[in-house]
Formats: sequence, C-alpha cells, structure tokens
Amino acid sequence: MPTETVAIIGSGRIGRGWAIVFARAGFNVNVHDANSEMLAGAISAIRDSVADLNGYGLIDEPVDTIVARVKACPDLAEAVRDVVLVQENIGEVADAKRTLFADLDRLTRPDTLLASSTSGLPTSSFTEGLEGQARCLVGHPVNPPSLVPLVELSGAPWTSPESIAKAREIYARAGQKPVTVNFEISGFLLNRIQGAVLDEAMSLYEQGYASAADLDTVMSDGLAMRWSFMGPFETIDLNAPGGLADYADRYGGTYQTIASERQPFTWGPETIKKLHDERRAILSKDEIEARSRWRDRRLMALLAHRRSLKSEES
Ligand SMILES: NC(=O)c1ccc[n+]([C@@H]2O[C@H](COP(=O)([O-])OP(=O)(O)OC[C@H]3O[C@@H](n4cnc5c(N)ncnc54)[C@H](O)[C@@H]3O)[C@@H](O)[C@H]2O)c1
Repeated sequence: MPTETVAIIGSGRIGRGWAIVFARAGFNVNVHDANSEMLAGAISAIRDSVADLNGYGLIDEPVDTIVARVKACPDLAEAVRDVVLVQENIGEVADAKRTLFADLDRLTRPDTLLASSTSGLPTSSFTEGLEGQARCLVGHPVNPPSLVPLVELSGAPWTSPESIAKAREIYARAGQKPVTVNFEISGFLLNRIQGAVLDEAMSLYEQGYASAADLDTVMSDGLAMRWSFMGPFETIDLNAPGGLADYADRYGGTYQTIASERQPFTWGPETIKKLHDERRAILSKDEIEARSRWRDRRLMALLAHRRSLKSEES
C-alpha cells in the first residue's frame, strides 16, 4: 500500500503535535501555515520534540526517519493535494475556519476527510452549505496530541457515518484513541467532564473547605491515580464486590445528597484572583514555562510506563 499523506493546516502548538503523531505512525505529513515565520520554525521544533520522545524510548525509528516524512508547504493547494485527511489547527475564530473549510472543500479530492482541532466550535458552525459537508468533522485533540492520545470525533448533523468511521480508523492507525460524540454538544466530552470537576473544586475552594494545594492533591494523589488508566465507570465497577449496580445501591444516596448540596461556581473575579494568587505563591509567573516542560517530561515518563505495561500484558 502506498504511504498515505495527511495535511496539517496551522503549525502552532497543536498543529506541530499532530505532525509528530502522523509522522511517527508512518504517514507523510504536509504542514502549511499562513504565517511564513511559523512555518519556517515548524520542522526544527518538530525535530526537537521527536528527539525528546526518543529520549524516553517512545519512538520506534530514528529521529531523522520520522522528521523526513514532514514537509513544509507554503502553498495551501499543494499541501492538501491527494491527502487522506486534512487536520485544521488555525486559531479559534469561526469566520476564519469557515473561509478555510470552503477553500479546503474546493482544493481537496472528494474523498479527503476535513477535520478541525477546534476546542469549542461545533462542526455545523463552519461547514454548513459546503458541497462536501458530509466529510467534515471535529477531531478534537488534547494538548499535546503527541503525548495524550485521546481524540474526540464530533460531526454536524450532515456529517456522514462513513466519514466518522473512516476518521476513527485513520486516527487509530496513527496511534490515537478516538471516541465518538453522538450529537453536537458544546465542550464535547472531555471538557464537559473537566468542567464538572473544575466547577466542584472551585466551589469547594470558594466556600473555604480546603486550600488550592490540598484540592490539587486530592486529584494528583487520589482520584487521578486510578483515572490515569481507567475511567469513572470502570472505577466504580471495581469498588463494590457486586460491581456497578452494587456500588450504586451502596453509595447512590450519598452522591444524591452531595448533588443536592452542590453550589455551582459562577467564575466570580474575586475567587479567581484569590486562587490565582495562591497558585503564584507556589509557582511564580516566570516559572510557568519550565514547569510546563516538566509536565511534558512527566507525561513522557507515564507514556513510557504505559508502553512497558502493554508489552508485558501482551
Ligand atoms: N492549545 C490547546 O490546548 C488546544 C487543545 C485542543 C484544541 N485546540 C485547538 O487547536 C486549534 C489551534 O490551537 P493552537 O493552540 O495550536 O493555536 P496557535 O495560535 O498556537 O496556532 C495557530 C496557527 O495557525 C496559523 N494560522 C492562522 N490562520 C491561518 C490560516 N487561515 N491558514 C493557515 N494557518 C493559519 C497561525 O499562524 C498559527 O501558527 C484551535 O482551534 C484550538 O481551539 C487547542
């Protein structure tokens, strides 16, 4: 089978991450950016990130082999010619995405999938009326997609089931973990769940139940230990001898009481400022960049651990 090519449009944080995902899985990758400086810096930034992955034993080929699959294309038409998938990663502006998707619809083969990385715009807001609207969808990644495998697939009412199925297959082949959102909903799945957790953590903080640091510890040294490898349903299924229904019998009432006491957080500026100041006392603004790099190294170590478990289990 000839090597397939994908196009990455927009070479910021997310676009560069996607380029690594596809190149390390063996796809050829055409990267395009409207900003020539961004495009000029993309290949060397991708090389640095692939070298980091190599340092953690997370790639199976030499760095140069992977990076050689990535090509910078100043011309949009050339970037998207004969590709199986276009992954769009430009800024979060609906009008700009609408204009770009109209261009993509015109410039690509009718069987090319057109996917957006948008964090919050529904597919229907930038694809309505396009001739190829049935092949348009959101493929929402987590930052950075090269380290966190989830991708949420969400189509408009006019996206064909075949396009969703084909996208699932391509993302899975690229080593990602696709999930499908059955109907359009703001925030897709991940940000709705993250929003619920944030809402409660913020509210508990606002009411003075605990410090920001202790609430973070509840997640990092409590819930997230299991949640890094199993979801909330599997977690409760294993937390009662009779499984999920037994858990619901035992603790459903407690959760209902908690829900009835819940005070939704309104994102008020006073609480945000207090929380921000508490965070800055722990980590100064100057240290955020270095701590973000530390986070990425921790993610790489976690991925390496998961890979070693997978090979042990198989
Ligand atoms: N950053 C995150 O955590 C995150 C996570 C998931 C999804 N997303 C989504 O991914 C997309 C990109 O986010 P990002 O953080 O990489 O943004 P970014 O600002 O880092 O990069 C955007 C890039 O797109 C280029 N661009 C803008 N308009 C263009 C056009 N018409 N044609 C070609 N290139 C163009 C810009 O020059 C820039 O290099 C957004 O839709 C965002 O919502 C972001």
